[in-house]
Amino acid sequence: MGNKTFAIIKPDAVKAGNTGKIYDRILQAGFNVLSAQLLKMSEVQAKGFYAVHRERPFFGDLVKFMTSGPCMVLALQKDNAVESWRKTIGATNPEDADENTIRRDFATNVQENAVHGSDSDENAEKEIAFFFSDGELLSDQ
Ligand code: RTP
Ligand code: MG
Repeated sequence: MGNKTFAIIKPDAVKAGNTGKIYDRILQAGFNVLSAQLLKMSEVQAKGFYAVHRERPFFGDLVKFMTSGPCMVLALQKDNAVESWRKTIGATNPEDADENTIRRDFATNVQENAVHGSDSDENAEKEIAFFFSDGELLSDQ
C-alpha cells in the first residue's frame, strides 16, 4: 500500500472561507503536507483531471464548478494514505457521509462537495504528477 494521496480543497470550500479549517483537519488526521498550491483550474486542466468522467451526464457541470474559482491542490503523505484520506472526507454525497467527515461538515451537495481524494495508489501518483513536479514535493517526512 502506498503512502501518498492527492487532495483538492474545491472552489466551493475556498469561496466559503473554509480553506484553513480543512487544512487543519488534514493535519489533525495525521497527514504530512508534501506540497500545496492555490490555483484557479483552466478548463483544459479540469477536463484532463476528471477525464474518466467525460461520458457522465454531470461532466459539463463538474468542469464549470472546478473552474469557477480558486482551489487548493495538495500532495499528502501518511501510511495507507489513499484509504485514510477517503475515510477522512466521507462519501461523495454529504447526505451519505459519516459524522465528523469533511464532506459531512463542509459540503453543500453531491457536486459542491468541498474536497477531492484519489481513489487508488495508481491514481494518486498520476494526480500528484498532474499538478506537481518532483522538485516541488518535500522529500519523505
Ligand atoms: P472526487 O473524485 O472529487 O474525490 O469525488 P468522488 O471520488 O467521491 O466522486 P466521483 O464519482 O469521482 O465524482 C467526481 C466529482 O464529480 C461531482 N459529481 N457530481 N451531479 C452529480 O451527480 C455528481 N456526481 C459526482 C462531485 O464533485 C464529485 O466529487
Ligand atoms: Mg473520484
